[in-house]
Parts: sequence; C-alpha cells; structure tokens
Amino acid sequence: PAQREERKARAAALLKQHDAVLVAHYYVDGDLQDLALETGGCVADSLEMARFGRDHHSKTLVVAGVRFMGESAKILSPDKRVLMPDLDATCSLDLGCPPDDFARFCDAHPDRKVVVYANTSAAVKARADWMVTSSCALAIVEHLKSQGEKILWAPDRHLGHYIQEQTGADMLMWKGECIVHDEFKGIELELMRKEHPDALVLVHPESPRSVVAQADVVGSTSQLLKAVIDGPEQTFIVATDNGILHRMRQLAPTKTLLEAPTAGNSATCKSCAHCPWMAMNALQGVINCLEQGYGEINVAEPVRTQAAGCIERMLDFVA
Ligand code: 13P
Ligand code: SF4
Repeated sequence: PAQREERKARAAALLKQHDAVLVAHYYVDGDLQDLALETGGCVADSLEMARFGRDHHSKTLVVAGVRFMGESAKILSPDKRVLMPDLDATCSLDLGCPPDDFARFCDAHPDRKVVVYANTSAAVKARADWMVTSSCALAIVEHLKSQGEKILWAPDRHLGHYIQEQTGADMLMWKGECIVHDEFKGIELELMRKEHPDALVLVHPESPRSVVAQADVVGSTSQLLKAVIDGPEQTFIVATDNGILHRMRQLAPTKTLLEAPTAGNSATCKSCAHCPWMAMNALQGVINCLEQGYGEINVAEPVRTQAAGCIERMLDFVA
C-alpha cells in the first residue's frame, strides 16, 4: 500500500507538471479511478469520456481505457497530446472488425446508413455515418428509423439485436462480440435471481440476449451506476465488467452488489468478468507515459477528419 500511495503521488505530480488530465473508464484499476477523481479528471462511460476530453483545457489527455477511447479523444482534439498507459490495450470488438473487410461490407450495401459502435478503430469510423455508444444507440437508431433509413450496424451483434428488438429498425449486422460480456449466462442468472428475488438486475447491452431479457435496467456503465445510486432496492445483480464495482461501492456503500454469473465462474474464479485489456492500465503506466512520452496516440490526418464526422454527429445529437 505504501508503494501504491507513492506511485499515486508521483503520477499526480506528473499530471500537474505536464498540464495533463486523466480520463478514466469505470473498468480500469480502482487506484487509477481514484487518481483521476482526486486530480480533476473523470471516471466515465465512453460517451462522457469523449466529451470530457474534448472540453477540457489541459494540453495533454491521459486516457486510461482501451485504444478506441484514446483514438476518439485524439480525433476530437487533434491539437492535444493524447497518451495511454498501455498502447496494446485493445478490444475484441475492434479486433473483430478489420477496416478492409468492413469497407467491403459497406460497399456491398450502399443503400444503408452506416452506424458503428464506439468500440472500433479510427479507420472503421472513417467509413461510418454515425458513431453511437451504449448510452445513446437506442435514441440514434430510433431517430434514423423515423427518417426511413435502413441501417448497416457494426460490430457488436448483442447490442445490435437489443436495439433492433427495441426499435424494430431494419438493421443488417456485423457479427462481433465483447469477450467479457459474451460470457454472462442466462440459465445461471435465472438461478441467481431465484436466490435473490428482491435484487434489481442491471445489464450492459453487450451481453447475450438471454441475459438482457432478464434485465430490470439495460444501459451503459454510467447508466448502470446511476441505477445503483438512485434505486430504492438494497441488492443488485450486476452484469458488466466487475471493474465498475469499485465506483458503485464508493457511491452506494450500504448496498449489496452481486456479480452476475459467467461461464468461467468456479470455486477458483469468482469474478471472471474483467476485461484483460482494461486490466493493462496501471499507475506505473501513467507515470511512464508522462515521464517518458510513451504511448502517444496519433491518427493520420485524412482518417481523422473523416472519423470526426460520425463522432461529432453523435455528440451534436446528444447535446
Ligand atoms: P460504456 O460506453 O457503457 O462505458 O461501454 C464501454 C465498453 O467498452 C463496455 O464494454
Ligand atoms: Fe471491449 Fe469488452 Fe473490453 Fe469493453 S469490456 S473494452 S467491449 S473487450
């Protein structure tokens, strides 16, 4: 613990010295979340991270999350330096949607509006008309449907199916998934609900249909956190990456939080829902990137301007 506190103090001093702000996601290590909040940064969902980074006055943004979050920050703020504690932190959705294959998919369906999830590379976003996150996907697809648009959706099939079911929109889907949320299991969740009949079930929409179908609240990480804070219930079953429990416990210390069951749960692994790429973010990485300039995100100019269009459209829509 003494070493942790020392590292935190070192990272805080470096953030100040470099006119930098820490923009963190709820799934990263709790120390990083605390550091962000103690130093004037934020802990947020992907939409709020993008907005916070764009609007903040600091010259440098340190993005603790996965690569697409750093890229979105750079796309929106080309004049800021964007650093990440570990540039290898990626996302299975991003990996599962290679830009060339995606471009061919789009070319084959020119009559459709291209809507991509935030969890994609800058090159994929450069082909899109709209970017969405889990907090605004429903409203944006609803809007496109009301305008008579047909949609090409990528890459998360679970989120896509949820949106399609809710809106009835005509959506052609790419078949990607999040390796973390895909592990939540409907049958095991049913058993857990029987054991805790008063619990409110909170589900991130990257989860499979059998899990989403049992949800009391479906939403982005921020929306799930809000449900815990605002809900009169005492017990919550949480179907999303367990990194979020850190902030939930801080903001709702008297509530009981149960992790939804995953396929990997066993006597030895009680908390399997944790993103291996989010876990690559550490205090030492923040120190290294600021001290040595490691982990800078750059997005080539034509791609950046093209990708900015779909992100800004989303931000204008939700403003
Ligand atoms: P949120 O936008 O809900 O924070 O989700 C990001 C993500 O990667 C979830 O796995
Ligand atoms: Fe990607 Fe899933 Fe990790 Fe989120 S939790 S960054 S969607 S792999």
